[in-house]
Amino acid sequence: MVVKQNKIFSIETHRHANVYVIRGIEDCIATINITPGKIFCGELLLKSFFNDRIYELRVWNPFRSKLAAAVLNGIDSIGLLPGNKVLYLGASTGTTISHISDIVGTKGCIYGIEYSSSCAYQLFHLSSYRTNVIPIIEDARYPLRYKMLIPMVDVIIIDVSQKDQIEILAINSLFFLKNGGNVIVTLKSDSIDAISPEILFAKQVDKLRKFGFSLFEQITLEPYERNHMLIRGKLSDPVFLFNQLTRFTKLTN
Ligand SMILES: C[S@@+](CC[C@H](N)C(=O)[O-])C[C@H]1O[C@@H](n2cnc3c(N)ncnc32)[C@H](O)[C@@H]1O
Repeated sequence: MVVKQNKIFSIETHRHANVYVIRGIEDCIATINITPGKIFCGELLLKSFFNDRIYELRVWNPFRSKLAAAVLNGIDSIGLLPGNKVLYLGASTGTTISHISDIVGTKGCIYGIEYSSSCAYQLFHLSSYRTNVIPIIEDARYPLRYKMLIPMVDVIIIDVSQKDQIEILAINSLFFLKNGGNVIVTLKSDSIDAISPEILFAKQVDKLRKFGFSLFEQITLEPYERNHMLIRGKLSDPVFLFNQLTRFTKLTN
């Protein structure tokens, strides 16, 4: 754990709620640690003294978190606010979730769906001291299996790197996303198809629109992640989504 005094860096608030910019030898972004003294994945921990209080900031690594890469690449909004309920599909070990947990704070909650039990082991450890993280070991393709555990949420984030991830997002949005709720989708071209990234991303964007999502932003995650893109949108018409999904199921059955 590396702790530096606030003499050698300055802190500014970012336009994204509860995200901070640390200006020092190298600028970086960070979130305020809601579990002081505990770090999760070897991240740099900085201490700052302000108004007689000590704040701990956990540096948010864009090479380990696609959301951090999008913030550093200048995304307009990540659609996350303190107190939000978030459904995270493809939680993995919980690196990004740990920072979202700082952002939404103790009044918010993150439900992390992960089907690999080896990844979920670390996620469970994270949830043992971060009470706003709820890990669920399940396949995100089958939301009925965990429907009883999750309320309606403000934001759904999906990072499963699967060919059918837009369908996975659509079915989970139908069950869990509030009207007008935000969605964040990360796309990795080589995990979806072997065609050129541009064509593939365009096809995925088209598919999102066909399910009734309005899209606000598309941002590349280069140079932090090769051939990756992050898309932010919202669900504007759940009835349309329902109709499209039933059509889709009929076609594929
Ligand atoms: C690229 S990693 C996610 C990394 C994570 N978002 C982060 O930033 O820390 C993708 C994860 O999705 C999980 N995954 C893939 N398909 C899934 C599915 N259908 N249901 C649940 N988890 C899935 C994989 O096991 C893997 O851990």
